[in-house]
Amino acid sequence: MENIFNSMLSSLKEKGLYRGDFKYLNSEQASKVKINNKEVILLGSNNYLGLCNDIRLKEAVIDTVNKYGFGSGGSRLTTGSYDLHRKLEEKIAHFKGVEASLVFSTGYMANVGIISSLCDRKWVIFSDRSNHASIIDGCLLSGAKLVRYKHCDMDDLERKIRENKGKYNLIVTDGVFSMDGDVAPLPNIIKLAKKYEIVTMVDDAHGVGILGENGSGTAKYFKLSDQIDIQMGTLSKAIGSIGGYVAGKKYFIDYFRNIARSFIFSTALPPAAIAASIKAIEIIEKDKFRRKHLLKMADWFKNKLIEAGFQVTRTITPIIPVIVGDSKNTVKLSESLLEEGIYVPAIRPPTVPSGTSRLRISLMATHTYDDLRYVIDVIKFHGKRLGIIEG
Ligand SMILES: Cc1ncc(COP(=O)(O)O)c(C=O)c1O
Repeated sequence: MENIFNSMLSSLKEKGLYRGDFKYLNSEQASKVKINNKEVILLGSNNYLGLCNDIRLKEAVIDTVNKYGFGSGGSRLTTGSYDLHRKLEEKIAHFKGVEASLVFSTGYMANVGIISSLCDRKWVIFSDRSNHASIIDGCLLSGAKLVRYKHCDMDDLERKIRENKGKYNLIVTDGVFSMDGDVAPLPNIIKLAKKYEIVTMVDDAHGVGILGENGSGTAKYFKLSDQIDIQMGTLSKAIGSIGGYVAGKKYFIDYFRNIARSFIFSTALPPAAIAASIKAIEIIEKDKFRRKHLLKMADWFKNKLIEAGFQVTRTITPIIPVIVGDSKNTVKLSESLLEEGIYVPAIRPPTVPSGTSRLRISLMATHTYDDLRYVIDVIKFHGKRLGIIEG
């Protein structure tokens, strides 16, 4: 038995796909972190707004722990629902401009719970090829027919709808794609959904806090908050806390509360985590400057990378994929940067398609231009040394 597993691990190593020991942080999640007590610039975090270690979130958590203790002690349908859960769910609904919302323990559990309770064998799900793994897992668990369309390709989506449409249908897409940083063409997706009478779902894990005039995400950015049937998101990225949610019409939310197994059969989030999420949403609603500054800095940084000759997708978000292609070379670049005090993980298959291994750089509002100028100098040097850009 051991031989089988060892040979699988060796094969991963040969392909540059082996994941070794973790990098253990011994500091807060911030624009600079400590790994083995050495300070490094962190460039791969989803803590886009720097809220993970914001003093206001810390205070909210400490006050809540003092009042409620830590663990929630039960699932939401038994003893684990607190007044704070209700407050957060009302807040999310208001923030997203919809009737109601429901909080899950993680975004992964939200996707799996929503999709597997909504759809069954009678459904056809049209899913963007670059959608997050938790969407795909939800689709597979549901037993529905899964039809994957080319990334953001509306002609391919329409063709596949015509060929595969069933009695009940769902189109599901990331709002902002986690590994590419690009934004789904929601207006066109909604047009097709209306034309063919299809339910729509958007996973806005990476849009919330970043896009839309109040920071509520991709739907707001396109002024489509009332047209998307199901809006899912996570509280673990720009919101700086932990958890996932679904937001939409009351009847959908009521349905998920009753049917979604990942909601029902899991312990509720601790009140302190809920308090952090409430505080973060309050900050996001008021503080436009933070996300404007982040987006401006991201644009500047992308231009510098492109000028240097790197293959970078031009997006409007702080997710900046630097495509290297080969997995081993991507790991070498990541390791060289770490030696120089810059931590940005190598992203390889199966997270991204084969041949598109990359550094997934993501900026935080708390990075400085000085940090980023240093990053540009170092990445250029090693990019040339490794033959990724021309010398
Ligand atoms: C697009 C997308 N959806 C869902 C999730 C899952 O969210 P969580 O990390 O809260 O489980 C992620 C996280 O990586 C994501 O990127």
